[in-house]
Amino acid sequence: MKIAVAAESDKAEPRVAGTPETVKKFIGLGAEVAVEPGAGVQSGIPDADYVAAGATVEKDAVKTADIVLRVRRPRADELLDYKRGAIVVSLMDPYGHDAAIAALANSGVTSFAMELMPRITRAQSMDVLSSQANLAGYRAVIDAAAEYGRALPMMMTPAGTVPAAKAFIMGVGVAGLQAIATARRLGAVVTATDVRPAVKEQVQSLGAKFIAVEDEEFKQAETAGGYAKEMSKDYQAKQAALIAEHIKKQDIVITTALIPGRPAPKLVSAEMVASMRPGSVIVDLAVERGGNVEGAKPGEVVTINGVKIVGYLNVPGRLAASSSALYAKNLLTFLESMIDKKEKKLAINWDDEIVKGTLLTRDGKIVHPNFQPKA
Ligand code: NAI
Repeated sequence: MKIAVAAESDKAEPRVAGTPETVKKFIGLGAEVAVEPGAGVQSGIPDADYVAAGATVEKDAVKTADIVLRVRRPRADELLDYKRGAIVVSLMDPYGHDAAIAALANSGVTSFAMELMPRITRAQSMDVLSSQANLAGYRAVIDAAAEYGRALPMMMTPAGTVPAAKAFIMGVGVAGLQAIATARRLGAVVTATDVRPAVKEQVQSLGAKFIAVEDEEFKQAETAGGYAKEMSKDYQAKQAALIAEHIKKQDIVITTALIPGRPAPKLVSAEMVASMRPGSVIVDLAVERGGNVEGAKPGEVVTINGVKIVGYLNVPGRLAASSSALYAKNLLTFLESMIDKKEKKLAINWDDEIVKGTLLTRDGKIVHPNFQPKA
């Protein structure tokens, strides 16, 4: 069982899929591990640390690997180097990327898309969306604080009082919950909104105030999988009216709203941005999926009438060392569940809910039901 930790080919990706800690564990499970040179550098892990953990450093580690660990999906040309039947575990970003997913299938690799991990208790420690969103939520508040020209906590000083900043978190999934907690720790007065009713209590338990249109549709807005549904035009209009009134008075807005497989809902209009006072900061964590904020630009900080809209890409990558540590651990627990510990070899149960939920391609075909090529 030979495992490769790939160096990411996308220059915008500083994370790495294996750490010295996970390498050591894989070796304990009977694997040989080879790391591509420099794979961990941007996460603060020099090659020597992998070697100290028992790995080798090899330029073409992926060529001979039975299992390749990555952060991002390999490109079609990179797949030419992979063994047919090799297992590739990675974020696959499968929605709307049919050609790339077809290339994975054609290469004959057995690919697992970590973002499709079922959200069941047993899979919590393998849940990359949660591990990365949690850090992104934290970082969004740090980025907002850095752009904000005032202090966040109330400060009473002999020279006068600095009022507490008002922070509004839109979308309270994993990222939003961490954003609330972080903004509270920094001393902001925090409010939050979401379309899923289950969120209200979580918001309140973190010491923030919940703001939402709580009508009949809101009561039905959560899918069995725990995700948000796309809301009706009517609901969206009511929601927008409520938000418009609230947002005027906010200093910091963090948006995190997503709907799986759909473009991100537009929650903050240009008029709402214009209603905020100069110096306010909006961080749009959904910018990679179309954005929640009108005027947000991927990879940029734009200023409109003195209001800054922050659209950083790959926000988990802005804390690469922490994100890599948790991501690598997610991959370790996932693979551990597929390794026979006595025999020290792979023993995949293809009927396991976790395997079925994440398996994207196998034996030259796309096997996941959500990504079947259209007839
Ligand atoms: P997500 O990243 O898909 O979306 C972020 C948030 O945006 C969600 O809370 C969603 O309700 C909200 N949203 C969508 N449309 C909106 C709109 N129009 N206005 C306002 N908010 C809107 O969500 P995430 O972070 O992946 O969490 C989804 C659910 O999964 C949550 O219930 C979370 O607690 C649950 N979960 C369960 C786990 C488990 O049991 N293993 C692990 C992690 C999360």
